[in-house]
Amino acid sequence: MCGIIGYTGSSQALPVLIQGIRLLSYRGYDSAGVSVWREGALHVRKDPGRIEDLAPSWDPDGLAGTTGIGHTRWATHGVPNRANAHPQQAGETTEDGGLVSLVHNGIVENDLALRETLEAEGVAFRSDTDTEILAHLFARAFQGDPVAAARVLLDRCRGQFAVAIQHRDLPDTLIAVRRGSPLLVGLGVRENLLASDLRPLVGRADRVMELGESEIVIVTPDAVHLFDASGAAIERETRAIDHTERDTGKDGYPHFMLKEMHEQPERLYELVAGRIDPEGRVLRMDDLGLTDEQWRSFERVDLVAAGTAFNACAYGAYLLESMARIPARALMAHEYESRDPVLDERVLVIAVSQSGETMDTKIALQVALDAGAATLAVLNVRESVIGRMAGGVLDMHAGPEIGVASTKAYTGMLCSLLLLALKASRARCIADAPIAEIAQALWALPDAVRTALERFDEAAAAAQDVRRADHMLYLGRGPDAATASEGALKMKEISYIHAEGHPAGEMKHGPIALVSREMPTVAIATAGPWRERMLGNVREVRAREGEIILVATDGDPDAAKLADFVLSVPATHPLVAPIVNAIPLQILAYETARRRGCDIDQPRNLAKTVTVQ
Ligand code: M6R
Repeated sequence: MCGIIGYTGSSQALPVLIQGIRLLSYRGYDSAGVSVWREGALHVRKDPGRIEDLAPSWDPDGLAGTTGIGHTRWATHGVPNRANAHPQQAGETTEDGGLVSLVHNGIVENDLALRETLEAEGVAFRSDTDTEILAHLFARAFQGDPVAAARVLLDRCRGQFAVAIQHRDLPDTLIAVRRGSPLLVGLGVRENLLASDLRPLVGRADRVMELGESEIVIVTPDAVHLFDASGAAIERETRAIDHTERDTGKDGYPHFMLKEMHEQPERLYELVAGRIDPEGRVLRMDDLGLTDEQWRSFERVDLVAAGTAFNACAYGAYLLESMARIPARALMAHEYESRDPVLDERVLVIAVSQSGETMDTKIALQVALDAGAATLAVLNVRESVIGRMAGGVLDMHAGPEIGVASTKAYTGMLCSLLLLALKASRARCIADAPIAEIAQALWALPDAVRTALERFDEAAAAAQDVRRADHMLYLGRGPDAATASEGALKMKEISYIHAEGHPAGEMKHGPIALVSREMPTVAIATAGPWRERMLGNVREVRAREGEIILVATDGDPDAAKLADFVLSVPATHPLVAPIVNAIPLQILAYETARRRGCDIDQPRNLAKTVTVQ
């Protein structure tokens, strides 16, 4: 969580910092702030709120200067208010008088002990943050050598953090130190930058370098000096930045979520065409680092992830077990370590993550690596923390996803996991695996998704109705149990309607008690072996006067009779259907949230990337 940006060069720093904060706001957006060096002082502006509202009040004259740092926050320690916003300062008491300005992404785990020690030494804290501790530690340790002072942070602080620091006595200098949380250095012509991810660097810097674990960097307009935790100078390769790597405009759409939903046909096409031919004869997966022999030797697959990615794992586990005949289970990444899973090289652990930065998923992957399990990551950002840890990476090729509610990454995950299950089936010589039929359906998938998107009005009509609901139920069976969970997650994330997703078979065991006229039920009952039984559940809900929104295949003879609203989708293979079925549920959530006046791209309390446990 939280985004860091830093600039030192020959241009004014403020516009670069504001733009960087804007591009990093997906990481957290409850407050923002900047610090700029001008005329021998560090000038800080910060407040709770969104960068769009805050930046106009940051006067360019008062913040004129060519070196500065900026931050966008997702609160962990202390409520979002001015005192807790970053930059945190140390050394003096006024906002324009500190010795040190510091911005931070991550968590200092021994903050309470450090705070007590510093207070005993006479430090008066002005915020509730763990970040302020870092600022005081740095300010007190600084005797003219920024590397030595940064080493104190590594020595005394436990936890995961990336920080960028300015010192009043070092006018053109940024100092950064990292443990756990990511931080990049962008190298330009007579200017250099720091950023939590690549987006703010694209179009500004020519080359990029990642700060390694427990490393320190000193950045000036003309030089970047890297040091290890002992303070010894080290060298690091840089790589050229591909200037197509950022795609941040809304392209005329009112929301990123809507734009990203409409990108799905194209993204899925790229993913499918890159991996499989239309007959399913060729499956290009050699880059994953898993041999056919390994696939045959696996005795179990654990899929670990959080949120939407966990829902994708539930689908992936279903496929790997039912089609490729490997015992497979989806597990929430944050619960993985504590169950002390039985692992060795006969187990494959697949970490699924859009960002590749989710701390819970990273820790679960580390558990697998430590135990000697084979590992693979299904990611949207190959160059990410998880991407570098995993034994192999399957890139879902969804392109940058900015909307907090995941849409194209979800369908990218499902499609990637389906391709993986095909690969596993072939490697394990599963004679009856429907590889050719699924390959054919996958090549038709972009069109099916496009058609589902064209049916926007059907879901919009249902949204007009459910917008007044306080509670909703989502039901699905087989691989669409995951679709039900994901549909409910989308709804609650962006419309703030309480929504529960359940495998429909679970209804009679409890959730049916909730059914009433006031609680709409979304049932996924597209063509396939589960349709009949799903319609049985639908009848049970109707018998209790519950309203039904039915996701049904084109031409379904019963849909209109059983449902208050039908969300129709084109026919496809039943195992591919969950990818298509996700579309009307995305539209339903989007249109409901829009009608309720919610902030669709940046819902309350959430952040796009959850880099803390
Ligand atoms: O980046 P990741 O896929 O690892 O993120 C995991 C979850 O935080 C994420 O899917 C979250 O649930 C989304 N907001 C869902 O829309």
